[in-house]
Order: sequence, then C-alpha cells, then structure tokens
Amino acid sequence: MAKYLISGGNSLCGEIDVQGAKNSVLPLLSAAILTADDVIIQNAPKLTDVTNMMRILRALGAVAEREGSLVRVSAKDISSHEIPVSLAKELRSSIFLLGSVLARVKKAKVAYPGGCDIGLRPIDLHLKALREMGVEIREEGGYVYCDASGAEPSYVTLDYPSVGATENAMLLATSIDGVTSIANCAEEPEIEDLQNFINAMGGCVSGAGTPFIKIKGGLPLKGTVFSTMPDRIEAGTYLLGTLACGGDVTLKGAKAEHLSAVISKFSKWDCKINANSDRIHISSNGNMGELGVIETKPYPGFPTDLQAEICTLASISKGSTIIVENLFETRFKHVPELIKMGANVKVRDRVAVFNGVDRLSGAKVYAKDLRGGAALILAGLCAKGDTEVNDVHFVERGYEDIVAKLTRLGANIKKA
Ligand code: UD1
Repeated sequence: MAKYLISGGNSLCGEIDVQGAKNSVLPLLSAAILTADDVIIQNAPKLTDVTNMMRILRALGAVAEREGSLVRVSAKDISSHEIPVSLAKELRSSIFLLGSVLARVKKAKVAYPGGCDIGLRPIDLHLKALREMGVEIREEGGYVYCDASGAEPSYVTLDYPSVGATENAMLLATSIDGVTSIANCAEEPEIEDLQNFINAMGGCVSGAGTPFIKIKGGLPLKGTVFSTMPDRIEAGTYLLGTLACGGDVTLKGAKAEHLSAVISKFSKWDCKINANSDRIHISSNGNMGELGVIETKPYPGFPTDLQAEICTLASISKGSTIIVENLFETRFKHVPELIKMGANVKVRDRVAVFNGVDRLSGAKVYAKDLRGGAALILAGLCAKGDTEVNDVHFVERGYEDIVAKLTRLGANIKKA
C-alpha cells in the first residue's frame, strides 16, 4: 500500500489551482447519461472516485473517456440497467446513478453502495423520495430493483436534506412530464452545479441552493460542454493546512462564499484571509488562536468533510476545542492516529474534546478514510520530525496531485 513520507515544519507559501469538485463531478457524470448526445465535462479532477464512476458508465454501455482535464461521455446506447456490484462497492456515489438510469431506461438494479467507512450510510431517503415519485422498489438479496415506468410528477418531501437523495430525485424528475417539487432538499453548492448542468442540457430546474427545488421534466435534453465548480473541500483543506503550518497561500479558483462557515472560525485569529470572486488568499504566522465549539451541519453549516482536517488544527489550537459530528456516526477514526502524534483528545460518541498541545510529533500513522487521511497529512506537515502516512489510496480518492501541490507550496512530502 502506498504511503506518504513527510518531514514537518515547513511553512506553506505560493499559489495552487483548486481542482474541480469531486462531489460535483460525480453527479454530473451521472447526469451525462440523461441525453444520447455527447457531453463534455471540463475541469474533471483526476481522482480514483472519478475513474470508478467512468468505469460504471462504461459498464452501462456509455462511452466515457478522459482527455486531460476533461471527460467526454456519450450515452447513445445504454445497454444495461445494472450497476455492477464490484464497482458499486468501491464507490458510494454509484447510488447517484439510480435517478439517471431510471430516467433513461425506466428500470435499474443496484447493489447497496460502498465508499468510506464512516458509519452507517443508508439509502432509505433516496428510496423514499423515488417511491414518492411513483417508482416501484423491491429490495432483495443485497440489491435494489427499481421500476420507474409509473413515475409521475409529485411533491416530494425529504425527511432530512440528504445531498444524494436530492440529486437522485432531481435526475429522475428530468424525465417525468410535468412539474416535480422537492421540499427540504439539501442546499449544497454542488446541487446548484447539477441544476446548472441540467439546464445547460436544455432542462428546466430552479431553486437549487434553497430548500425547495422545482423540476419541469420531460424536456428533450441535448449535449453540452460544462465546467465543474471548484472543490470547496480541497480548498478548505489547504486553507487549514496554511493555518496549521503558517505561510502565505493563494488558492486559485476557490470561492470564499462556499467556505464561510469555516472562514468565520478564524475572524479573531492572527491571520489574514482575503478573497475575491475566483481566489482565496491566506497568510498566517502559524500562531494558533481558539476554535471553541464546532458542530458539523448540512450546508451552509460547517462541513462534515472538513471535520477531520479541523481536528488537526484543534490538536494544536489554544485551550479546549469541542467538535461535534452530527452527520456521520463513526467519523473520528483519525483521532487515535492524531493521539499517536501527541494530540490530547477524548472522544465519546459523536463528540471530541481537544486540549491543544504546543506541537504534534512525527509518527507512523494510518489513513482510515479520505478526509481522515487528509487530516493526518496536515498533522505531518506541522509536526516536529518525520511522519509516515500509510494507506493513502483513501486520500487519492479525493485529492488530485496532493503531493505535487504541497511540494509546490514548500512542503517536504514524497510518495513511497
Ligand atoms: C455527500 C457527499 C459527502 C458528504 C455528505 C454530507 C458526495 C459525493 N458526497 O454524501 O462527501 O460528506 O454529502 O455533506 O456528494 N442519510 C440517511 N439515509 C439516506 C441518505 C443519507 O439516513 O438515504 C443520512 C446519512 O447517513 C448522513 C446524512 O443523511 O447522516 C447526510 O448524508 P447525505 O447528505 O446523503 O450524504 P451523501 O449524499 O452520501
């Protein structure tokens, strides 16, 4: 298994481009099969999750090819409605294909999805939304069989604003003649990106970014060229890394408005964060301030996908920090690894209490999931001495060229 070797202590300085958003490009790839025309998705990050999604599209009968930073999808023929179990287990986002496969061929068979092991990741909200839209669903032997031949325009209310369930309902609704409404939907910027993509294909979706989305379905969808929005979680990770190590970093393409719940945590810190429409600039002398209480929440709240990374900062912040993980059950697997590096943390259920130490020390640690792995890299960068982060395949599911980008910023990190 690949690992990263890090010699800590360097500050981070320079400019990097923020990748296209993983959590946007995956639903965009799913939506690309809504049309038989060619679709080009630009700014598609080179990530194992994206490669796996493209493999699933090919298994369905579509052509999905990468040319540099763009991915071309041609779903002229969809020859299968079955998402192969081996690929579905690799990628939780395979569940986002349910809506678009149903829209395109009216039936679908999927296995229960995989992805990061961060606690129970049920799909009941997805299935309930689809049922409310008239889809017949049978769950049998670890598979979900769906038939959308009787789907009709509906008023769907989600019990919880699930990102994936919102996206699945939007995707299916594009194929249903008439207006479908989704209430209590997720407000994440990636959902707005999906709306913009569907509209660029000739669809009619409005309300994304608010809790209420309307889809006028049944319109003919055509090919388009579309650029994926910037990855707010990647940008947030480098932002937190600069605070942990000190330095002066410009994140080109990053949008500060997507990270306001994160940036607001540092208003009283001895650092400067400036932003305009297409970049964030941060300079920090590495002096830690206080973080207080941080609770993860659906957007626009503090993102669960930056919880692990801010745990690294909490390890070396002033005083006590309380971090509450509200979205996922077992998303503190990075904490025992941070403890190996000298962090003073106690975890009980979904709450972690940190008492900041002056500095972490290098150690041999193991990534257990994508964001937890990123947290350990940040810890290695600011720690005294050498750190070996193992099992970095998790990290490469979500961070493009992380070693090259950090090296460009002056970090001492290499892959072994
Ligand atoms: C998306 C993101 C993921 C992020 C998460 C929350 C993508 C590809 N992934 O995942 O990075 O961490 O949003 O911001 O966009 N839930 C149910 N039943 C369901 C679906 C979800 O109980 O059917 C629960 C989940 O267990 C979790 C919460 O709802 O507690 C939020 O999950 P959801 O918003 O669906 O996350 P994903 O779309 O899987």
